[in-house]
Amino acid sequence: MRLGVLAGMLDLRPRGLKALASVDDFERVAKRKLPRIVSDFVSGGSDSEITVQKNLAAFRQIEWAPRFLKDVSNRSVTTDVFGQPLRVPVMLSPAGLASLVHRDGELAAAKAAESAGTVFVVSTASSYSLEEISAVTAGRLWFQVYLWKSREVIGDLVKRAEESRYEALVLTVDVPVVGKRVRDVRNGMAIPPRIRPGSVLDVLRRPRWLAHLSRGPELTFGSLVGSVDPEGQESIASYVDRELSNSAATWDELVWLRGIWKGPLLVKGVLTAEDAREALRRGADGVIVSNHGGRQLDNCPASIDALTHVVDAVGDRIEVFLDGGVRRGSDVVKARALGASAVFVGRPWFWGLAAGGQEGVERMLEVFSDEIDRTLALLGSPDFEAVDSSSIWTQKEDFG
Ligand SMILES: Cc1cc2nc3c(=O)[nH]c(=O)nc-3n(C[C@H](O)[C@H](O)[C@H](O)COP(=O)(O)O)c2cc1C
Repeated sequence: MRLGVLAGMLDLRPRGLKALASVDDFERVAKRKLPRIVSDFVSGGSDSEITVQKNLAAFRQIEWAPRFLKDVSNRSVTTDVFGQPLRVPVMLSPAGLASLVHRDGELAAAKAAESAGTVFVVSTASSYSLEEISAVTAGRLWFQVYLWKSREVIGDLVKRAEESRYEALVLTVDVPVVGKRVRDVRNGMAIPPRIRPGSVLDVLRRPRWLAHLSRGPELTFGSLVGSVDPEGQESIASYVDRELSNSAATWDELVWLRGIWKGPLLVKGVLTAEDAREALRRGADGVIVSNHGGRQLDNCPASIDALTHVVDAVGDRIEVFLDGGVRRGSDVVKARALGASAVFVGRPWFWGLAAGGQEGVERMLEVFSDEIDRTLALLGSPDFEAVDSSSIWTQKEDFG
């Protein structure tokens, strides 16, 4: 009899991606599937990786002041960004070389963002070209640029982005040079990756990743082929330093960019009120509060800690977004409560992609959406757009 009950309860069917219940689960699976050299490239930060940790820890320190016995039966996780709807307020940050983790790379991410009803920001350093990516989706695409040494190269990219119906331009300003990514230096991370004697076994233990890579496109920067190519098997840091970043750039470059781009223009990498005001003064329509996921200057504050400074400075005039360390739906709601219009995630979509290609990224976004919805109910604030700082616990509550 007992055996019969047990047999009735047994369900041995594989649950696949549905079994992944949090972003941490995706990270675990991605790390199992990817060789160390690649998972370190994705997860790593600069120097002592203090900012990587700060981004995560700061969210954990923010506490809720939930309210109960409010009707939360009708909830909404949606919002609008630049007049267009987002079905989930989590967008995909620009992150280069997605084919390293899955052969469908950015094509899969773009399709997943479309089916989830969100925005995908295509990196300048994407593995597929900006045209190839826009050809596979009718969804919302933004394009990220660095400030090149040559305005000709960047002007050409901006024109191509416009022709391929990219909706907004994101200028990343926090890379005058590449941060020192210690793990990448140690592992010899390059384009394509160099498999050193110490990594051979680690790579051979992941035959599926090897097969993926060999069946995928040649690993390169799709949008830059023929204009600025890496030299031989060049380290990513040296390529970006040589071609993608212009350490002589000033805020004047934003004025120039404003002159050639008519759509929404955002500045990514703002941490201070002063830089937010500079961006606003030179015509930006939005800023992304970001420390590049702790991959540039180490020991910067967590982006969620910098958010309030930026919101106080410019939040009533331009859109303020945030990325860095967002791992839970409750983190998204915290960012909203502190004044962000919506957030972006970087590593989480790479982990989703590694775990299951397009479906993996879709499931990752579904996990965020479910968690946001549940947080709104538990918080007593059913409409994402209406969440404000009254939901955040402050010391005054301690005294009644
Ligand atoms: C693998 C990887 C590649 C990245 N490439 C770019 C890039 O090409 N351009 C850019 O502006 N930011 C890039 N970033 C930074 C992300 O856009 C984003 O700021 C950061 O990942 C957010 O932190 P999170 O990973 O904790 O969500 C990259 C991040 C990662 C993890």
